[in-house]
Amino acid sequence: MNKENKNEAALRAAQLREKINEHNYRYHTLDDPRISDHEFDALMSELITLEHRFPGLRVSGSPTQKVGGEPLLEFLPLEHRVPMLGLDNAFQREELREFDGRIRRSAGLGEVEYICELKVDGLAVSLQYEEGRFVRGATRGDGFTGEEITENLRTIRQLPLMLAEPATVEVRGEVYIGRDDFKKLNEKRLREEQPLFANPRNAAAGSLRQLHSRITASRPLRIYLYGLGEHRLPVSTQAGLLGYLEKLRLPVNRERMLCRNIEEAAQFCSGWARRRRELPYEIDGAVIKVNDLSLQERLGSTARSPRWAIAFKYPPEEKTTRVRDILVNVGRTGAITPVAVLEPVFISGSTVQRASLHNEDILAEKEVMIGDTVVIRKAGEIIPEIVRVLKEKRSGSEKAFRMPDRCPSCGAAVARLEGEAARRCFNPSCPAQVVERLVHFASRRAMNIDTLGPAMAELLWREGLVRDLADLYYLKASSILDLKLKGIREKTVANLVGAIAESKARPLHRLLFGFGIRFVGERAARLLAEHFLTLERLRRAGVEELTAVAEIGPEIAGAVRRFFEAPETAVLLEKLKEAGVNFSEPAPGDAAAGERALEGKTFVFSGTLQRLTRSEAAELVAGQGGAVSSSVGRKTDFLVAGDRPGSKLNRARELGVTVLDESAFFELLESPG
Ligand code: IVH
Repeated sequence: MNKENKNEAALRAAQLREKINEHNYRYHTLDDPRISDHEFDALMSELITLEHRFPGLRVSGSPTQKVGGEPLLEFLPLEHRVPMLGLDNAFQREELREFDGRIRRSAGLGEVEYICELKVDGLAVSLQYEEGRFVRGATRGDGFTGEEITENLRTIRQLPLMLAEPATVEVRGEVYIGRDDFKKLNEKRLREEQPLFANPRNAAAGSLRQLHSRITASRPLRIYLYGLGEHRLPVSTQAGLLGYLEKLRLPVNRERMLCRNIEEAAQFCSGWARRRRELPYEIDGAVIKVNDLSLQERLGSTARSPRWAIAFKYPPEEKTTRVRDILVNVGRTGAITPVAVLEPVFISGSTVQRASLHNEDILAEKEVMIGDTVVIRKAGEIIPEIVRVLKEKRSGSEKAFRMPDRCPSCGAAVARLEGEAARRCFNPSCPAQVVERLVHFASRRAMNIDTLGPAMAELLWREGLVRDLADLYYLKASSILDLKLKGIREKTVANLVGAIAESKARPLHRLLFGFGIRFVGERAARLLAEHFLTLERLRRAGVEELTAVAEIGPEIAGAVRRFFEAPETAVLLEKLKEAGVNFSEPAPGDAAAGERALEGKTFVFSGTLQRLTRSEAAELVAGQGGAVSSSVGRKTDFLVAGDRPGSKLNRARELGVTVLDESAFFELLESPG
C-alpha cells in the first residue's frame, strides 16, 4: 500500500467526517438540511469505502460508527467527576420570588439576570468528549456513580461522535422520546404483543438501558444538552454556554429565554404551562438558572442541588370524575384485571370512560370504591389512570369492591401465581378466554379470518357452536342460519365459512402465533416455525432444543412446553389435523400456494422504514415468495424507499423500477394481487 495514497485517504476521510458531521447536525438538530439525501448518502458511502480500504481510518469518532457490535453482559459503573445534582422544585410564583430573594441577598444585587429553559421529561445523561471525540457516556445513577451506556448513546442520531472543535468537555443533557414517536413505538409494540411503555419517559429510560445497542438504535431517542460537568471552556454565562454547545454542534433546545429579573422568568414559566401541548415532546416544567457563571459558583450547591437553579414544575392535566362501577375483565391468558367504569370526561385530547386498575394490589393501594369521586390523568398523556380518591367527597353510599375468587366468566376458582401481580383463571375452556382467543386466532396477523370479529366470536360461543379454536373448522353455514338470529344474513355466514376454510392453508407460523401461547408473539412464532418446519417436530422439541434457536429464551421455551404438555392441546391439535389445517412452514423456495403472491418479484430496500426494520421487511417479502436484493438492477421489480433512500432511488428511477413508499409497500403485501 502506497504511503502517499494512504495519506491522501486519511485527509479525504477527515474532510468527509467533517462534512457528514455538519450535515448530520443540520438534518437532525437544526431541521434545516442543505444537501439532498442523495448527496448525503454519496458522502457517507465514500467514507465507508475509504474506511473499508484503510481500516486504520475507521476511528471511533467516525459517523459510520453509530451502531456497535456485540451486546454487553452488564453495565459498568462510571463515576461522575462532578456529581450530577438534582433541582429544587417550585410550584407557585411565590416560591420563585423567595428563590430570587435568597440569591439577591447573597449576591448583594438589586436584580439578577436569569436564563429560562424547558424541563424536558426524559432521562439525565452525561457525555464525555476528548479532543472533540465522543469517548464515554453514562446515566445519572445516584448522582455520583452512573451506568456506562456509551454504545447506546452513540446510536442517538442527533449526537455527533465528533464535535465541531477539538474540545475536551463533559456535557449533560436529557434524553427523551417525542410524543408522536412514542405513539408509534407503542403501536408497534402492541402489534408485536410486547408490553406497552406507560409514558415517553419510561420508554426513553428502557431504550437507553439495553445491553444490545442495536435495540437502542431502533428506538427514536432524541437529546438536548443543557449543561456541563468537567470543562475548561471560554464561557462566562449560561446563555453563552448554550451558544457554545450549539457551536460545537450539540443539540440545544431553542426554546429558552434570557430574563432581566424573576418576574420575566415567571412569565416564561406560566406561558409554557399554557402552551406546553404545542411542543412535540413532553415537559414537566421549566428550569430557571442564574445566568452569570461566576455568580453560580459563588452561590454553590447543597448536597442535593445547586442554589443557583430551580425547577418550576407543572402539574399533569388532571380531572375529577365519578367511578360508576368496577368490572373485571378476563383476558386471553386468563388474567383478571379490574377496570373502573367512569363518567365520561374529556382530558388531554380525548374522552375517557374507563381506567384500568391494573391488579388487586394497585386497587388496594388506591382504595377505590364504587361511587367514589376520583382524580384521573393520562399517564404519559395516553393511558388513563386514577391518581387518587377524593375521600372527602364520600357520602357513605360508596360500595367497596372485592376481587372475585371465582372467574366472572366461567365461575372457576381464580388464583395468583407466585411472583405475579394478576389473578388468573386457569380454566382453559373459560368462555371469556375462549372468545378472546378466538378473536386473536382470527386476527389479521394470525389466521386472518377477517369476518370473525368479537361480536361473531361471542355469538358462536354463546350458541354453543364453538368451544375451542378447532371447532371453527367444523362450523356449517346451516347450523348458524338455523339459529334464525336477527341481523345474521346468509351472505355474512357464507363469507365467514369461506374465510375459515381458506385459513386452513396458512403457514405454520401464523397458526402458532394464533394459538396465543404466552410470550410467543409474531416474531417468536416465525423463528420457531422456520426452525422446526413442522408442528410435529416443534411439539417434540425439549427446552434445550427450543432455546438453541436464536432469540428464543427460557421463558418462551417454557411456555411452549407447557402449551404442548396441556391435555387439551392434544385434543385441539388432533381436531385441527382432522379438519385439514396446515401444520407446516414452507421451507425457503417451497412455499404453499396462496402465500407466494410475490413469486418472481425482486425487492430492494433503501433508507429507514418507520414501522419495520429492513430485515423484518425482507422477511415479509420472503414469506410471500419474493426475493430481496441489496442493489438496484435491471431485474429489480420494486424499490421500497424509506427515509433518506439515497442513491438507490435515483438508480431505480433511471431504470424505471417501480418505487413504493412504506405505506404502498404494506398495501402490496396485504393485497399483492
Ligand atoms: S439543570 C445542576 N436544565 O431535570 C443542575 N435540568 O432534577 C442540573 N432537566 O433529571 C439540572 N431539563 O436531567 C437542568 N434544562 C434543564 C433540564 C434539566 C431537564 C432534568 C435533569 C434532571 C432533572 C433535575
